[in-house]
Amino acid sequence: MNNTFLEIKNISKTFPGVKALSDVNFSIKKGEVHALIGENGAGKSTLIKILTGVYQADDGGEIFINGKKVTLKNSLESLEKGIAVIYQDFSLFLNLSVAENIGMGLEVEKKKKFFDWKNVRSKAKEALDLIDLDIDLDTPVGELSIAKQQMIAIARSLVCDASLIIMDEPTATLSKEETKILLSLIKKIQKTGVSILFVSHKLEELFEVADVFTVLRDGNYIGTYPANQIDEKKLITLMVGRQIFFERKTRKIGDSTLLEVKNLSKRGNFKDISFSLKKGEILGITGIVGAGRTEMMEAIYGATSYDSGEIFIEDKKIVIKNTKDALKNKIAFVPEDRKNLGLVLNKTIEDNIVISNLKKISSKFGKLNFDLKFKEAESWIEKLDIRPKDCQLQTKKLSGGNQQKVVIGKCLSTNPKILIIDEPTNGIDIGAKTNIHDLLRELADDGMGIIMISSDLPEVLAVSDRILVMRKGKITGEFLGEEATQESIINKAILN
Ligand SMILES: Nc1ncnc2c1ncn2[C@@H]1O[C@H](COP(=O)(O)OP(=O)(O)OP(=O)(O)O)[C@@H](O)[C@H]1O
Ligand SMILES: [Mg+2]
Repeated sequence: MNNTFLEIKNISKTFPGVKALSDVNFSIKKGEVHALIGENGAGKSTLIKILTGVYQADDGGEIFINGKKVTLKNSLESLEKGIAVIYQDFSLFLNLSVAENIGMGLEVEKKKKFFDWKNVRSKAKEALDLIDLDIDLDTPVGELSIAKQQMIAIARSLVCDASLIIMDEPTATLSKEETKILLSLIKKIQKTGVSILFVSHKLEELFEVADVFTVLRDGNYIGTYPANQIDEKKLITLMVGRQIFFERKTRKIGDSTLLEVKNLSKRGNFKDISFSLKKGEILGITGIVGAGRTEMMEAIYGATSYDSGEIFIEDKKIVIKNTKDALKNKIAFVPEDRKNLGLVLNKTIEDNIVISNLKKISSKFGKLNFDLKFKEAESWIEKLDIRPKDCQLQTKKLSGGNQQKVVIGKCLSTNPKILIIDEPTNGIDIGAKTNIHDLLRELADDGMGIIMISSDLPEVLAVSDRILVMRKGKITGEFLGEEATQESIINKAILN
């Protein structure tokens, strides 16, 4: 018996000026969890778009499903042939109920004119039972958490009888606990014989579920490796072409205090937060998701309000009511959820980078200096290693990770004194991570004060001069970077 569900042969994809994929060959077995990995821009999302009919491969490529050659001209054709994809935005109807959203797939599948609501409800219930999700069928999907919405999207692909479910960085927006739930769900789905193609930059979580790893590098197929015959170190070398280490570097920090926060509180979110940040210091803030880290930083940045407490910048008390106040005080914030924030996808990399900072590149009379504009963009493309290095490329043509780097560049281009950066390397490949770490150190060496929120402990330990640990809205621990260990941090984050 042939247990291969999908086989691709000589798949290439050429965009004007870029060969995103060159002669990729591999197959996915029935009931297999198949990890697809590679650096930012390696071609992962492009391959997924070919499998889901969004893009057509170059001539000469072949796709076989259950041994039969197929063409996938659009997403409906892919779905009919058993390939479903969970998009980053889940493509759900937020104002419709859970049952309606799940049933939608079912009814579209049958191309019926009228919905058979009784059938929809019972099928939706079956799908939810299958994935152990206890949610009222009548809840509008918009009221659910992101993690639950993702589950609904998965349930919808299950009722469509998908044989292969593709997930492109499904855990990028999930907390550690939510990720755990998703991973165990994946194992459960796998037992029903459905295959999963899973893209992620987090090797640790992939090792928990993947049977095999396929590695892409610069659009080339490097190989497929059984999970029990390879380790993280080898995979990184295959992806990046070299070994990667996170190194601690001892840095000199200034004496003057840039930011001081005193007894900042917000009911239900955080309580009595006091800390300071020196010129040139990188302050790491960590804790499990839900500890109140992001909420607290949003308040300092003026994205939300606080109930009481004081904020001082260079010993001057300031009031931050909104993000404009923050900008005036030279505080910049790079949010965790960069996908929904900040990029004008039809505009070029250059336009996006300078957009919040037109003054810097204009003459006294407000006339745009195109030379300065270009230079400003070039310098961030260089520092952040945005690929391809082409100022004039529309940002929608960049890979996900490179889009994220543009958002970071746009924010840094405002010359902040204080930078608050939330999960700086979420969605960024392991090689580019060290690059961002070096950049943060460089900026701090030039006098910027940096607050880095991160759940990635190796990152926190490598980059922070000082570390604050939060738990349930309070600061529960403080360490000097060189003294902290994973264990000591986890202790303060969970126990205490
Ligand atoms: N519509 C497009 N037009 C031109 N080039 C494109 C287009 N879409 C993708 N590319 C290019 O194809 C290459 C592969 O991009 P892809 O999005 O597949 O990478 P990826 O492996 O998913 O990376 P990431 O981990 O950053 O999401 C990149 O060089 C990207 O700039
Ligand atoms: Mg991608």
